[in-house]
Amino acid sequence: MIKSIIRGTGKFVPPNLVTNKDLEKILDTSDEWIQQRTGIKQRYWVSPEGVTGASDLGFEAAKQALDAAGWTAEDLDFIIFATLSPDIMFPGCGCLMAAKLGLNSTPALDIRQQCTGFLYGFATADAYIKTGLAKKVLLVGGEVHSSGLDKSTRGRDVTVIFGDGAGALCIEGVDTKDCGLLASALHADGNYADSLMTELPASRLPHRNPPGLPLDDPRYFPVMDGPSIFKKAVRLLPKVTKEVLEKAGIGLDEVDLVVPHQANKRINQAFGQFLKLPEDKIFHNIEKYGNTTAASIPLALHEAIEQGRTGKSGETVLFVALGAGLTWGASLYRFL
Ligand code: UT7
Repeated sequence: MIKSIIRGTGKFVPPNLVTNKDLEKILDTSDEWIQQRTGIKQRYWVSPEGVTGASDLGFEAAKQALDAAGWTAEDLDFIIFATLSPDIMFPGCGCLMAAKLGLNSTPALDIRQQCTGFLYGFATADAYIKTGLAKKVLLVGGEVHSSGLDKSTRGRDVTVIFGDGAGALCIEGVDTKDCGLLASALHADGNYADSLMTELPASRLPHRNPPGLPLDDPRYFPVMDGPSIFKKAVRLLPKVTKEVLEKAGIGLDEVDLVVPHQANKRINQAFGQFLKLPEDKIFHNIEKYGNTTAASIPLALHEAIEQGRTGKSGETVLFVALGAGLTWGASLYRFL
C-alpha cells in the first residue's frame, strides 16, 4: 500500500534574536511574566530593514529538506505551503517559493489553517500521494509574524508569543505497510473565528483599508482571547489525540514522542498531564522560537530528529495542534 514517508526535514529562522528583555524595552511586559505564562525565553524576528517574507524563510528550510532527502527541486511534483502571513495578499507563498527554487511549472498550493496548517498540509500531501496525483511532495510551514504585530503594550499578549521561522518536509509515496502517515484527524469551527484573528484589510468591506482609519487601529493587528483558546486547547487536544489513535488502531503507549504545536508550554504540559504522559515524551522548543504557527511542528520535528529524540525506524510520533479558525487536529507518523 502506498504510504507517505518523510525523506528529509529542514528548518530556518532569521538571524535577528529578540529576547524577552528586548521586549521589555518596547512594551510593558517582563521576562518573568513571559517565561511563567508561556515558557518562551526568546524568538527570532526578521530584521525590520530587510525584505524577507515567509516564502524566503520557507525557501531556506526547503533547500535543507531537499538536501536531506537527496532530491533536487526538479524532483518535486507538488508543493504545499502553510502560512497565515503570506508575503503578499496573492499569489500565495507556494508559487513564490517554487519560483525561488527555480521551478516554473510544478503545482503549488497554500494552506491557510494557521497553527494547524502543518497538519492540514500533511493530510493534503497524503491524499495527493494516495490518489496518485503526486509522488514527491514538499511541505513547508513558514511565517513572518513580526512585521504585523502590535508592538505597543495594547498588543502585548500576542506580540510576546509570536516568532518568525520556517520548517520543511520532503514526503514521498512509498509502497510499504505499518509506517508513514498512519492517520490524521482534522477539525474546524469558524464560530470562534474572532477568538484569534486579524480583521483588516478585509475584502468583505467596501474598502479593504477603510478610509480615514489610522494604520495603528487594533483591527490591523492580530487580537486573541488567550484564556478561552487556552481552555479549548486543553480540552480538545486530548480528545483529538484519542480520535487519531482510534483511527490508526494503536494505543497511546505505542507513541514514542509527541511533537506538539508550540503555542504555550503550559498547554502542552497540561495536555501531557491529562493523558498521563511522562514529561520526556513531549518535545518542547518554544523557549527558543516562540510560537511560529504553521512552522512550529516541522521546525520542532527537525530539531527532535537532530537531537536523536525521534527518527529511528519503527518509532512513532504524534503531532497535535490547535489555533485560529478555530482549527485543531492530530496526526500519527511512524518512521520507515
Ligand atoms: O497558537 C495560536 C493559539 N494560541 C494559543 O494557544 C494561546 C493560548 N493562550 C495563552 O497562551 C495565554 O492565554 C496567554 C499567554 C496569551 C496569556 O496568558 P494568561 O495566563 O491567559 O493571561 P491573561 O490573558 O489572563 O492575562 C493575565 C494578566 C492580565 O492583567 P490583569 O488583567 O490580570 O491585570 C493581562 O493584561 O496578564 C496581563 N498580560 C501581560 N502582562 C505582562 C497579558 N499579556 C502580558 C504580557 N506581559 N505580555
